[in-house]
Amino acid sequence: MRIKGTKKSLRGSLAMPGDKSISHRAVMLAALADGRTEIGGFLRGEDCLNTLKNFKMMGVDYIEKKDKLLIKGRGLKGLQKPGKALDVGNSGTAFRLMTGILAGQEFITKLTGDASIQKRPMKRVVEPLRKMGGRFSGESAPLIIFPGKLKGLNYESPIASAQVKSALLLAGLYASGAVSVTEKVLSRDHTERMLKNFGVKLKTDTSVSGKYKVTLPAGRHKLRGGLKIAVPGDFSSAAFFIVAALLVPGSKITLKNIGVNPARAGLIDVLKKMGARLALKNKKIVSGEPVADIEAAYSPLKGTTVDGALIVRLIDEVPVLAAAAALAQGRTVIKDAGELRVKESDRLKSICALLSAFGFKAGETADGLIIDGSPGRQISKNIKIDPAYDHRIAMTAAVLGLLNQKETLISADKCIETSFPRFEQALLGALK
Ligand code: S3P
Repeated sequence: MRIKGTKKSLRGSLAMPGDKSISHRAVMLAALADGRTEIGGFLRGEDCLNTLKNFKMMGVDYIEKKDKLLIKGRGLKGLQKPGKALDVGNSGTAFRLMTGILAGQEFITKLTGDASIQKRPMKRVVEPLRKMGGRFSGESAPLIIFPGKLKGLNYESPIASAQVKSALLLAGLYASGAVSVTEKVLSRDHTERMLKNFGVKLKTDTSVSGKYKVTLPAGRHKLRGGLKIAVPGDFSSAAFFIVAALLVPGSKITLKNIGVNPARAGLIDVLKKMGARLALKNKKIVSGEPVADIEAAYSPLKGTTVDGALIVRLIDEVPVLAAAAALAQGRTVIKDAGELRVKESDRLKSICALLSAFGFKAGETADGLIIDGSPGRQISKNIKIDPAYDHRIAMTAAVLGLLNQKETLISADKCIETSFPRFEQALLGALK
């Protein structure tokens, strides 16, 4: 992708692709439901299409009708042994959630993924699943998952990870006892909200000294058929447009129908603190998830500190937040974000390399970043970015590219397809 500096601004009203986290979960839970589920707004990005393909390989039929995806669930016990290895491509969410589901099956499976997946830590799900009776060949991808008789577990999670929590709850659907997961900070709760919509009873408890505990009680579980799920626009995709609008002079955009689950939308709070002109309109609950239109307009920004519980609420948005910080007045310090080292790339490293390539001052710490902003800085040089196969680094580069008067060339930008098909057209199309 080549991005050229522009005198234009981002204007108008835009829709974003469907939420990636919710799209994965919608396919998985629909596959386990007793009957048909209708999914609207499904993200047709590579990651979620791989999930659809993997469940098809386990006998789950689907049809696509206009913009709806209709999935014929096979019930909790209805999945079939796939003919070959299941491959999640680049998706850590798919790998970890499916590890939970597959641990409870009566057939053996092999689960694998691309080079990045094979390097990512899977012990965080394998270890607690083993405590439940799950049986695995190792602790990383590719992983062979043997049939296991699962029992209950009361798990105090050392990291606030929605993928770990979800893997355990999904395995819990097959367990003989109750499964509880306690987190120090609430991680995104899409699995809990969707399980409730499918009729599964969950208990949540936030009374234990700031911690969050979710319990799937023991019992014969059943996911009801006939559910209609409307997937909202992905907040993590919207984030690139929000920051682009804040940084490109004269911009004012409205992003329609975006998921603003508070466990995910921490970027809004941070950007507002930095001085952003941002507003949420038409707030409503759709399919159990908070949704709103987001208005963002060009704003001078100031630096800030982001740490602790807030990090969990914006973990995927740190790359684009760093771009905002690079143009803000003063210093931005990001702490407690060591998890970024094990995402699609080592994002602390990738972000520093990206900001440095654009001539900004950024340094890594063990678990964060220090960025000294240069508001209004003129960038005028040909820049080549290698996003290290990381979609969010590639899209952040494109946002910064809008501010470069010369050409920004982003190589190997195909990775963007994992979460945001036709990103370039959407970004350039918003320039008026
Ligand atoms: C996700 C959870 C987060 C997030 C990822 C999507 C999910 O990962 O970074 O992009 O859909 O559950 P962790 O659970 O590893 O924090």
